Amino acid sequence: MKWTATKIRALKGERKIAMLTAYDALTASLVDGAEIPAVLVGDSLAMTVLGYETTLPVGMEEMLHHAAAVARGVEHALVIADMPFMSYQPSIEMGLANAGRFIKEAQADAVKIEGGAMRSELIGALVANGVPVLGHIGLTPQSIKEMGGYKVQGKTSEQARALMDDAMAVEQAGAFALVLECVPAELGRTISAALSIPTIGIGAGAGCDGQVLVFTDLLGMSGKPVPKFVKKQVDLFPVIAKALAGYKAEVESGAFPSDEQEY
Ligand code: KIV
Repeated sequence: MKWTATKIRALKGERKIAMLTAYDALTASLVDGAEIPAVLVGDSLAMTVLGYETTLPVGMEEMLHHAAAVARGVEHALVIADMPFMSYQPSIEMGLANAGRFIKEAQADAVKIEGGAMRSELIGALVANGVPVLGHIGLTPQSIKEMGGYKVQGKTSEQARALMDDAMAVEQAGAFALVLECVPAELGRTISAALSIPTIGIGAGAGCDGQVLVFTDLLGMSGKPVPKFVKKQVDLFPVIAKALAGYKAEVESGAFPSDEQEY
C-alpha cells in the first residue's frame, strides 16, 4: 500500500505517526523497509550530507537531485520534499512553480514549507492546485538569522498564542499535517489537541500526533553532539570509524585481500 497525504492525515487519533528524514535512495529504502509511513527529504541535508553550516545555502537543483533519489528508493512511504530557502518566499507564483518541480521532476508526493499565517495564501494555492502541503512552525531553521539561533520557541504566553494562531491558519489553509519544532511540550500538546490535522513533533514533546527526526541523528552517524530532543537508537559513527580503520590496516599489512577474496 502506498501512503498518501490523505491517509497520513487520517491517522490522527488512530495511531502515532513516525516520520524520518532520508537523503538518497539507500537511506530512503531503509526507512521504507522499516514501514515508516512518511519520509521527509529535509533541507537538513545541507548540513547532514552536503557539509554546509546551515540550511540556507541549499538550492532547488540540489534538493531536486536528492528528492528524486529518495523517491526511487521508496515503495510505500509518502515522500515529502522540503522547499529550500527562497524557493517559495519571494512570491506565490515562484512557490507554485518550484513545488510543481518536486512533483513533476522528482516524483515527490508532497512538499513542506516553513511558516504559519504568513504562508496561508501559498498553502491554499498549492493545495488548490493539487500539491499536498506539510506545514512547519516553531523553530523554523530557514529563519535562523532572524530568530538569532536554534532556540526553543513559544516560551512566553504571547509567543505561544501566536504559534497557536499560526497552527490554526496552516490547518485552515489546507495542510495535511504540521511539523512543530522545538516548542515546550505543554504547548505541543495544546496545539495538537486544538487541531484536526496531525502534528508531527521534533522537540515538541509526547503530546504530538507523530514525531520526526533526522536520519543521521537517530543513528548517531555524525560523531557530533545531537540536540536534546534526539534519542539515538544506535551510535554508528564509532562503528563505521572502526571498520574503516580496520580496512586501512588490512590493506597496508597485506591481510586484505586474502585467498577468500581472490578469483
Ligand atoms: O530539514 C529537516 O530535516 C526538517 C525536519 C527535521 C523537520 O525540517
